[in-house]
Amino acid sequence: MNRFSPATVVRMMRGCSSPALFLMGIMTVFFSSPANTPAELPDSNQVLSRIVFGSCIKQDLPTPIFYTMAGEFPDLILFLGDNIYADTEDMNEMRAKYDRLGANADFRRLRSSFPIIATWDDHDFGINDGGADFPQREASEREFMRFWDVPAQSPVRSRPGVYDAKIFGPEGQRVQVIMLDTRYFRSPLKTGKKRVGGPYVPDDSINKTMLGEAQWAWLQQELEKPAEVRLIGTSIQLVPEARGQEAWGNLPHERERLIRMIKETRAGGVVLLSGDRHWAELSCCHEHVPYPLYEITSSSFNQIHPRGTPTENRFRSDERTYHRENYGVVHIDWNLPRPTVTLEVKDIEGGIRIEKKINISDLQPN
Ligand SMILES: [Fe+2]
Repeated sequence: MNRFSPATVVRMMRGCSSPALFLMGIMTVFFSSPANTPAELPDSNQVLSRIVFGSCIKQDLPTPIFYTMAGEFPDLILFLGDNIYADTEDMNEMRAKYDRLGANADFRRLRSSFPIIATWDDHDFGINDGGADFPQREASEREFMRFWDVPAQSPVRSRPGVYDAKIFGPEGQRVQVIMLDTRYFRSPLKTGKKRVGGPYVPDDSINKTMLGEAQWAWLQQELEKPAEVRLIGTSIQLVPEARGQEAWGNLPHERERLIRMIKETRAGGVVLLSGDRHWAELSCCHEHVPYPLYEITSSSFNQIHPRGTPTENRFRSDERTYHRENYGVVHIDWNLPRPTVTLEVKDIEGGIRIEKKINISDLQPN
């Protein structure tokens, strides 16, 4: 790798104590020509303390928020889906739309400076609110692999769907990142009377699935692995109840299954990250869970919700919501006697709009 690549400079700057050098680093990264090489993922023993995430990019709109996100100097960035609005069965069109994002200089600088792991949601899967019956799901998956540069040897390439998981950090400071695929296997949703949020109603059928059996079996194995913090990226919201729009609550048995699996595997440290909604909020479930199950939703990177007022959510644990451009930050302070994880939603200027600090020790099964 070129020793003056943005990713190299970022690594140098992380250990830098001089403000002048630090500033020079930022300028080198953001005023250099965007590089084409994606930053490498952290080593498996690297301690992660700052993870940035978000969702929903209109590939034809400017993305100035990527500059703000870069200023976080994240160890890792998670893209939770609707990373482009492909909405097509034509794979040439889908590729052209991915390439549009790929040509975005802000995106290229961000991607060459900081490692990114992605999953997809309906629009980059290829169809609004789509699931397993999307006829081009295999071809769409190939476009996802190509754009996100999934390595040839990755297990993701050897199975249907785009779900994946990785653990970073040494024992005592392990962060497990689980990225779910809520599209490839998802059964058709049940519709009811049109409501403001959307036409969907909860379906009690036990034969319908969100993840599909192979992904469920894989997820159980992942949750059984030891880790201190687990970030589960789900493109659509899990904790908030379905209010007409897409959410795990439309398949309530599947929603309960995930919560039950966390309980039965005794997986500690779980925090859910979601997107999709074009607003940001913090939810927390205290019912039938082994410990408070927090979910932080961040969306969109470059769109503004036209109504501005989010749907009712009885699990909302912070009355603040935010409907303009935003991203999420998970900051883990490993140096405290009782390490903490702080969940934040930030605006385009890096201002904190929603914030919650949690002791990791409070996210453990009894
Ligand atoms: Fe979506």
